[in-house]
Amino acid sequence: MGRQTVIRGDDGGGDDDDVERPFSAPLPPPDSINLKDENLDEQLRPQRLADVVGQRKVVERLQILIDAARLRKDPLGHLLLDGPPGLGKTTFATVLPKELGVEVQITSGPVLTAPKDLLPYLTNGSRGSILFIDEIHRMPATVEEFIYPVMEDFRVDITLGEGLSARTINMPLEPFTVIGATTRSGMLSAPLRDRFVNRLHLDFYSVEDLTEIVTRNARKLRTEIEPAAAFELARRARATPRIANNLLHWVRDFATVKAKGHITVDVARDALRMQEVDEAGLDEQDRKYMTTLLRIFAGGPAGLQSISHSLNLPPDTLEDEVEPFLLRLGFIQRTPRGRVLTAEGLQHLGITPPDSRGAGQGQLF
Ligand SMILES: Nc1ncnc2c1ncn2[C@@H]1O[C@H](COP(=O)(O)OP(=O)(O)O)[C@@H](O)[C@H]1O
Ligand SMILES: [Mg+2]
Repeated sequence: MGRQTVIRGDDGGGDDDDVERPFSAPLPPPDSINLKDENLDEQLRPQRLADVVGQRKVVERLQILIDAARLRKDPLGHLLLDGPPGLGKTTFATVLPKELGVEVQITSGPVLTAPKDLLPYLTNGSRGSILFIDEIHRMPATVEEFIYPVMEDFRVDITLGEGLSARTINMPLEPFTVIGATTRSGMLSAPLRDRFVNRLHLDFYSVEDLTEIVTRNARKLRTEIEPAAAFELARRARATPRIANNLLHWVRDFATVKAKGHITVDVARDALRMQEVDEAGLDEQDRKYMTTLLRIFAGGPAGLQSISHSLNLPPDTLEDEVEPFLLRLGFIQRTPRGRVLTAEGLQHLGITPPDSRGAGQGQLF
């Protein structure tokens, strides 16, 4: 086992929540379960690279980076992980230090409000250690500028005093690795992006990979699940491991109460129906987004802000959690003039497009 010290800083919540959930931890009541909840599946997070399912390209490249760092005895080059929520950014960021046998410190963009918030992490970091900055796109500009020389030359520039008596002190640091995770690599400034020599994009998962994840995790949770039921959950998990895990938690509870704990495909379907997860894996929030686009905006084009106002949901939530999968399914499109419902989207809502030429270009009515 590698040397592994986790020093947690001011916690931004989210993934870094280190609350251990015992097996029998009560889940929230059915009507308040959030399938996108980040903390529900903490116990299922893979611990080593070999436990990670799918993302072959990312895994292979990481293996090369790990082996190279080991052979050269150099710290890993700074690494940026990007992709929609729940696809494994935090998982990869926490697996890496274990593989390398180095220390890791964890923080996140929103809690680093000023350069001084970053200082303790920099001075605590040992040679080759990893600093994981989650949601790095939400780091304020002042912190971003402060981190440039840190990442490039392993040097901190501190200004002491003010006005004429001000002077800058350069403090050398041990070489270390920044791992940044973001759902929006487009929001990073070019200079910050450039300082990451390694950039890996996480993509949505295949149903086969998700079936494997559900099957393995059912075993971890000591729950019996029929292969067909595992496939059914995987198929409706919005191509996202976090959602697959959260569905598994829900279906397992449902089965405990209704089916002596045994998850057959019928039990899985009943449980998903109760949670209002439809055939395509969409939940109430996703469908509400589509019906709003249809009813209020006549199919679009509609701006993100307008949709966000109508749904009373922050634009970030829509862009991060709702739109990526709807775009992938081809149910909506993003055009320069705004979001548009497509013919496929309409069909999913059970509506036949009045004229196939009209659909996909908005202005349906
Ligand atoms: N490649 C994978 N193999 C197995 N499980 C995974 C994989 N990627 C993610 N998961 C599961 O999904 C959950 C969410 O992943 P996470 O790394 O927190 O996503 P992100 O940080 O991108 O939002 C993890 O707790 C883990 O259980
Ligand atoms: Mg995360």
